Amino acid sequence: MGSTVNEGVLRVGVVGVGVISQQYFEHFPALPGLELAAVADLDVARAQAVGAEQGVRGTSVDDLLAADDVDVVLNLTIPAAHADVATRALTAGKHVYGEKPLAMSTAEAAPVLDLARRSGLRVGSAPDTVLGTGIQTARAALDDGVIGTPVGAAVAWSAPGHERWHPAPAFYYQPGGGPLLDMGPYYLTSLVTFFGPVVRVSGSATRSTRERTVATGPNAGTPIPVDVDTHVAAVLEHENGVISTVTVSFEVWATRAPLFEVYGTSGTLDVPDPNRFSEPVSVATAQDPTWNGLPTSAGYADAGRGYGLADMAHAIATDRPHRASGDLAFHVLEVMEAVATAARDHVVVPVTSRVDRPATVPHGARPATW
Ligand SMILES: NC(=O)c1ccc[n+]([C@@H]2O[C@H](COP(=O)([O-])OP(=O)(O)OC[C@H]3O[C@@H](n4cnc5c(N)ncnc54)[C@H](O)[C@@H]3O)[C@@H](O)[C@H]2O)c1
Repeated sequence: MGSTVNEGVLRVGVVGVGVISQQYFEHFPALPGLELAAVADLDVARAQAVGAEQGVRGTSVDDLLAADDVDVVLNLTIPAAHADVATRALTAGKHVYGEKPLAMSTAEAAPVLDLARRSGLRVGSAPDTVLGTGIQTARAALDDGVIGTPVGAAVAWSAPGHERWHPAPAFYYQPGGGPLLDMGPYYLTSLVTFFGPVVRVSGSATRSTRERTVATGPNAGTPIPVDVDTHVAAVLEHENGVISTVTVSFEVWATRAPLFEVYGTSGTLDVPDPNRFSEPVSVATAQDPTWNGLPTSAGYADAGRGYGLADMAHAIATDRPHRASGDLAFHVLEVMEAVATAARDHVVVPVTSRVDRPATVPHGARPATW
């Protein structure tokens, strides 16, 4: 790792400057522990254009990985490239924080985490949405017993398909994509944050014969091969006994199913969208069955994508574990892989990795005041 300019500041090199990179760029100014140093992409012309917009150099991936002024690689490539880019970043002596999923499989991800451990470097992973006030307030309410003892949780995320809005959606229909590996991380990371690790899963999965085509951008009309299941239903058994039922689908045109609820011995918690940072949490109880909003009680204020990386930068500077960790993402990846195996083989699949619930984010924490 190159020597840091300012103590506690990580100099960031972004690899992959597609759709989601813009959200990270928007939030860098609020994150004083991070300093954008360079951007790179397979498409070097795109990297140069984005670099010019952001006031940093845009370059090739090799050049960025060799740079002395980059301490951490922010890996915003497509899932098929996550493990390879992470391995190259770690080999170059840089920490890495990446978009979800951690990798396409646990077989691909395990050597990345091993390399980081051997090298004394950190691996972090999206989603960091779960560090915002929405999921953190829900967690605090559950820990405070607002609905008694949790018994079960239900997730029903669905959409017609990301090809309706993403200009380059092919990766969503290849291994590493599908509703399970693409949207699963938001819900499973929330469920592990609430209840701790999953020990066993079962599930079923299917796909329709619906023809998918790119709907927007220069490639509109191009057919998209579908090589993943697009409708997945799973049952997760947590170590603490809670049962989560999870349906994720790219096959649904309309629904009235609640997105995310937790059922406890004395009430129900309405959990906000874990793909967003700060939506309200509501509760209805045996005593008061009307839905009431809960005041925000935990989570990074005004958070957005990049806060997980800022949390990792602060964790490195203060020698504490970071919350959006590679270990957490690995467990979530193993759970998703187990669901796919359960669906394929019609069996119940044990999950072997274990991870502690990440530390809560104190109410109103702001990276700017760390
Ligand atoms: N688009 C979203 O709304 C969204 C939201 C949350 C998370 N994500 C995640 O972010 C990641 C990127 O998604 P996106 O929508 O920005 O995709 P995208 O296709 O718009 O951008 C990906 C970029 O990575 C580059 N790239 C691909 N392979 C590379 C490699 N080996 N080396 C260097 N660059 C490479 C591509 O050229 C492209 O510019 C995915 O893991 C996705 O799941 C996307």
